[in-house]
Formats: sequence, C-alpha cells, structure tokens
Amino acid sequence: MQTTKILLNIEKIQKEIPFGLVNYFQAIDSTNSWLVENGKCGDICISEMQNKGRGRRGNKWVSPKTGNIYLSLCWCFQEIPKHWTLLGLVVGVAIAEVLAEIGLKNHGIKWPNDVFWKDNKLGGILIETLDQSGVVIIGIGLNKMMSPEHSEKIDQKVIGLDELLPKGKISREELITKLIIKLHQHLTSFKTLQFDKFISSWKTWDILLDETVSFKQYGEEITGKVVDIDQYGRLGVQIKTGAINYFSSAEIKIRRSDHANTIG
Ligand code: BTN
Repeated sequence: MQTTKILLNIEKIQKEIPFGLVNYFQAIDSTNSWLVENGKCGDICISEMQNKGRGRRGNKWVSPKTGNIYLSLCWCFQEIPKHWTLLGLVVGVAIAEVLAEIGLKNHGIKWPNDVFWKDNKLGGILIETLDQSGVVIIGIGLNKMMSPEHSEKIDQKVIGLDELLPKGKISREELITKLIIKLHQHLTSFKTLQFDKFISSWKTWDILLDETVSFKQYGEEITGKVVDIDQYGRLGVQIKTGAINYFSSAEIKIRRSDHANTIG
C-alpha cells in the first residue's frame, strides 16, 4: 500500500489559525466521531488516516494515509442562525473558494455538498449536529492523492489535488490553514447571512444548475432540470409539467442523467 511518510507539521497550522486547538492523530476511527465524543467549541481534529471514516447517508469514507485531508471542526453557534439549513452549502462554497485561491480550475459543488472536479469526486462534507443547542461538527475530506488501489474501492470516479495542481504548488499545511481561516470567516458571518447574496455565490460553484437530473422519491423516478435552491437549501427541479418542485437532501440522491457515468 502506498502511504505518505511526510506527516503534517501541526505546530505550523496551529500558529497560523485564528482560533481553536488542533487535536492531531496519525490514525483515528473518524475525526468527526472524535469531536462528537470529545470536542469543545472551536476544537479541530485532523488525522493522517481514518479507520472508520464516515460519509453522508451512512456511507464509508475511504481514508488511506496517502496525504489526503481529514479535517473536522466543532463550532458552537450562540443561537440557531436563521438560515441554519444552508450551513452545508455555505461550507461547500468556503471550500470551493479556497480551491480557487490556490489555483484550481473547473471545480464546483454538487448539491448539497460534494466537491467535484469535472465528473470526479474530489471531496465531501459531513455535517453533524449534536442536539438543538447550536453545536455542529463539520467534517471535510479532501483527496490529495488517491491511488488506483484506493480509488477502486469507491463506487464513483475520484481524483486528488496532486493530479490537478503543479507539484509543490501548495503544502497540506497551507491548504488546511486556508480552509480553517475561510471556514472561520463564513461561520462567523453565517448568522447575518443574506440569502440573495449567498445564493448568487452558490450559483458560481453549483455544477448541477441547468442540468437534467434524475432521482427516486418514494419509489417514483423523477427527472427534471435543476433551476433553483430555495431559502431552506432545497433543490428546485423543474419537472415536465413545467412546475418547480423542491426537494431536501434527506429525501433524494441525485444522478446527473446526461452523463454515461452518473455522479453522486
Ligand atoms: C461525503 O461526501 O459523503 C462526506 C464525506 C466526509 C468525510 C470527512 S473526512 C473528515 C470527517 N471525518 C469523517 O469520518 N468524515 C468526514
């Protein structure tokens, strides 16, 4: 198995971030699970690999020690923000912005919060709330290096940043630091988020907008064109009658129906 021998310089990250204690592991079950058990407000958890990395919908997140990023953050809102259900989308925009800042092109977010480069999955976000108290665990997995050995365990096309950026362009420490700083900015301004402003920046990253998608809802196959996101973060799909119906991410799993290899 191909593994990275170069471990993260955590002191460097810790010195440059505006808040939070970084809890670092060479291996752990899941950085999200660790924070669910042990996290305090502002805590960050980073691991070189995860033995039980978790994805959305109970999926496994393949987490080898190949220099990928497995990062989680425990954030406490004093009160539940008005646009609470948009949090996942906001985190997606934050990641997309950082990737653009480091020179990546052709990436975007597949609603609700998968990071894609063209048709390849580059990363994912797992947001977990502990209760109704405003405490949230935000987990980010970002592929830096995915060997064929690991990629073949995943049921969709995946890619890592090392294939997309010139070698040595950015260190993992710089990338993690930028992600934490950007998250901090978005999370601190989240309570005053202006929906219209947010949605126009979301649209710059939305890879499904204007695409034809298919999905099942209550056993029924639905096909339509993605036209909107509403203020609850639901996907607006125009069906063949012309009506726009809104679907929440808990209800449906989207496929892009104009691609031979569906993504999602
Ligand atoms: C998905 O696309 O299904 C979400 C994947 C989220 C993976 C990250 S890796 C860091 C954190 N710890 C986990 O166990 N999961 C998230």
